[in-house]
Amino acid sequence: MNSKIEAVIRERRTIREVHGEEISEELLTSILEAAAYAPFHSAKEPWKAYMIRGQEEHKEYIERVLNCYSRIKVWEKFGAERILDFEEKTRSYYEMIPVSMVITSKQIHEEKADFEAVLATAALIQNIQLLAWEQQIGVTWRTTADIFDKVFQQEIGIPSNEKIVGTLHFTQIPKKIPKAKNRQPVSDWLHSLELPIL
Ligand SMILES: Cc1cc2nc3c(=O)[nH]c(=O)nc-3n(C[C@H](O)[C@H](O)[C@H](O)COP(=O)(O)O)c2cc1C
Repeated sequence: MNSKIEAVIRERRTIREVHGEEISEELLTSILEAAAYAPFHSAKEPWKAYMIRGQEEHKEYIERVLNCYSRIKVWEKFGAERILDFEEKTRSYYEMIPVSMVITSKQIHEEKADFEAVLATAALIQNIQLLAWEQQIGVTWRTTADIFDKVFQQEIGIPSNEKIVGTLHFTQIPKKIPKAKNRQPVSDWLHSLELPIL
C-alpha cells in the first residue's frame, strides 16, 4: 500500500505548539465541506461546529474555561500558587490559537442513536484533521474537563441536546513536527475470535 491517503494518515501529528498566524475562513470552510463526507447513520448529519476566531474571541472563551476549571476544581490538588501559573499558561496558549472549534453531536437520549452520532462525529473530526494536515494546518483534538461540564456548555451557549465530542485547535504546522507515538504491531491487537463449535 502506497497511497496519498496512507501518507497523510501516517504523517499527521497532533500539533500542540500554536502560532497566532491567521488561517483563512475559506480554507476552513472547504475542509469542513469535504470532512462532512464522513459516514453517519441518521437522517441528517449529527454534528455541529462552533468556531472561535482570533485573540479577542479566545480571550472571552478562555475565561469560561478557567471558570469551569475553578468550579469543578481541576487543578485544586496542585495548590493555589501553581493554579495561578497554570491559568496564566492556559491564557497565553489560548490567545495564540488562531482558530478553535467546539464540535458537538446531537443526542436524543437513545443509546444506539447517541452512540452512532458520537462515532460519526469522531469520523468527521479525523477527516478534518487529515484534510487540514494536507493544507499544512495542524490540529489538536482536546477532550479537556470543561467539555463534560453542563454548566460550561450552557455558559458557552451550546444547547443541552448536544454532546461536546471535542475541541479542535487549529494552527499552522511548525517546522519541527513532533515524532509519532509508536504504534503496536497489528499482530498485537488483531485476534481471531476462536469461537468454540456449538
Ligand atoms: C478522543 C481524543 C481526545 C484527545 N484529547 C486530547 C487532549 O485533551 N489533550 C491533548 O493534548 N491531546 C489530546 N488528544 C490527542 C492525542 O493525545 C494524540 O492523538 C495522541 O497522542 C497520538 O498522537 P498523534 O495524534 O500525533 O498521532 C486526543 C485524541 C483523541 C483521539
